[in-house]
Amino acid sequence: MPDDVLGQFAPPQEEKEVDTAKKLKFAIIGTGWIAESYIQSIKLMPDIDVVAVADLIPGKAEKFLKRFDAEGPRIYPDHKSLIDNEELDAVCVCTYNTQHAPVAVYALDKGVNVILEKPMTVTVEEAAEVLKAEKRSGKVLSIGFQPRMDENMRQIKRIVESGELGKIYYIQTGGGRRRGIPNSTFIEKKTAGIGAIGDIGCYALDVVLNAIGYPKPLTASGHTSAFFGANPKYNGKDAARFDVDDFACGFVRLEGDIILDFRISWAMNMDTSGDTLILGTEAGLRIPSTECWNGEAGGPLKIYKEVAGRQVEFEIPMFPSGDSFGGLFYKKIRSFADAVKDGGESPVPASQIFYNQAIIDGIVKSAALGREIEIALPEI
Ligand SMILES: NC(=O)c1ccc[n+]([C@@H]2O[C@H](COP(=O)([O-])OP(=O)(O)OC[C@H]3O[C@@H](n4cnc5c(N)ncnc54)[C@H](O)[C@@H]3O)[C@@H](O)[C@H]2O)c1
Repeated sequence: MPDDVLGQFAPPQEEKEVDTAKKLKFAIIGTGWIAESYIQSIKLMPDIDVVAVADLIPGKAEKFLKRFDAEGPRIYPDHKSLIDNEELDAVCVCTYNTQHAPVAVYALDKGVNVILEKPMTVTVEEAAEVLKAEKRSGKVLSIGFQPRMDENMRQIKRIVESGELGKIYYIQTGGGRRRGIPNSTFIEKKTAGIGAIGDIGCYALDVVLNAIGYPKPLTASGHTSAFFGANPKYNGKDAARFDVDDFACGFVRLEGDIILDFRISWAMNMDTSGDTLILGTEAGLRIPSTECWNGEAGGPLKIYKEVAGRQVEFEIPMFPSGDSFGGLFYKKIRSFADAVKDGGESPVPASQIFYNQAIIDGIVKSAALGREIEIALPEI
């Protein structure tokens, strides 16, 4: 992983002292790219031991442990054998997307707390199964949205909650890479299920939906395409196996008369798909274009409003980047571990991310049908 990513494992300066009297036993399921952030972060937590890891690919978990100088954990060939044979406080589900639901449900049903990587699942039906398992188990389930730990991202929610914007009625969100198609397991339906919409779209949705309190989604009119990923001109050899979306957009109605206008891309012939805008009756908020997975905004947040008949705009001072980048992955796992230890609330509740998944699913289903659909939320 590059240095700017590795830097995010560093514990934050203001970290409180942890109680090491009780050690938590964690396991990591799936030892790919994101699992690296887990093992690196957990190594910095004196009250957590990684006691086991699993991966479907023979030899992969062994190499992973060696790379991180962590040769103590037991190794299993899949999630079931690991969960069945270990006494665990929690599992970190770091598998590709199509395995999120089966692994999370299995762990919860065995009474194990779960931190589940994003996107929560592939479909809303799977997300409902995970939520039901959480309910049955009474365990902590948190979804791996590290931007939630970032002070500049949190500031967006604080601004909305302050009432400064008035009633929110329109949101434009999304983001986009001009060229930035990942490879590995991200580009095939059998492993990823969905493409850019799930990979980075889920973050763009979370930033704004979390800010406005996650209203229920009602309808979606969506489009998905793959003009770049499936074209050898742009994606070389990987084009042959590319069968997910590389661009998606949608027009979504939310409860409370709020319109969500969304677009996301891994590749397009444009530099940016625009800033994130939150329009309210008293003021508007501009969040300069960002992919936001690392908490980074493209510049200071800006508020636009009318004062005594004059149009004014001002910037919200940014939190220092040391703080904003200081250990987002670390904080994501620490906040989950604290909830497990203290019986606290999930830091990123699945009940919220269920709506995030419902929007993604609504856009995908609407795109397949070529028309607007009502978002049908499965009963929990
Ligand atoms: N939060 C973030 O910033 C971030 C960044 C990258 C990836 N992710 C998410 O993390 C997940 C994994 O991404 P990745 O890049 O590490 O993928 P990856 O393909 O590199 O690794 C996933 C691993 O899981 C293993 N696996 C799958 N099902 C399994 C099972 N049932 N039991 C044991 N092992 C299993 C696979 O063999 C593979 O080695 C994805 O859902 C992705 O969206 C999150």
